[in-house]
Amino acid sequence: MAGNKTFTMVKPEAVENGSAGAILAKIQSGGFRIVALKKTKLSAERAGVFYEVHKERPFYGELVDYMSSGPIYAAILEKDNAVADFRALIGATDPSEAADGTIRKEFAESKAKNAVHGSDSDENAQIEGDFFFTADERF
Ligand code: RTP
Ligand code: MG
Repeated sequence: MAGNKTFTMVKPEAVENGSAGAILAKIQSGGFRIVALKKTKLSAERAGVFYEVHKERPFYGELVDYMSSGPIYAAILEKDNAVADFRALIGATDPSEAADGTIRKEFAESKAKNAVHGSDSDENAQIEGDFFFTADERF
């Protein structure tokens, strides 16, 4: 059975250009309840750990530099079928391939600077939420 939680980040370029509020509004309009939310900044070391699964990929160094370049918003979201429905709401990794109406189509700058993160499985949603939030930060 599909789980009801996912994890997201509003990435540095979207925070920098003032889109975070509009992105969070679109997430809530899409039927997701915010369980936990914080503005924070990843060190290069923590960004490296978060994206460790990609460490053999050619874009890993660029990704770690980018994700630690400025503040982000991290959030745990709740909805039935959360992981798949959230990935549908954000759209394809590359905004030029993202469907109309998706968050990346509207807000992403490029494949690397693509405005938002979304967990790719229930297991990773749990791991990623735990990376940022303690139990008493969730409501
Ligand atoms: P995310 O994990 O951030 O939700 O993105 P995703 O599943 O759609 O894409 P993934 O393959 O997991 O890649 C993670 C992030 O790495 C950056 N990336 N850059 N320059 C490139 O070719 C490239 N490919 C991926 C993006 O920031 C992507 O979201
Ligand atoms: Mg991914």
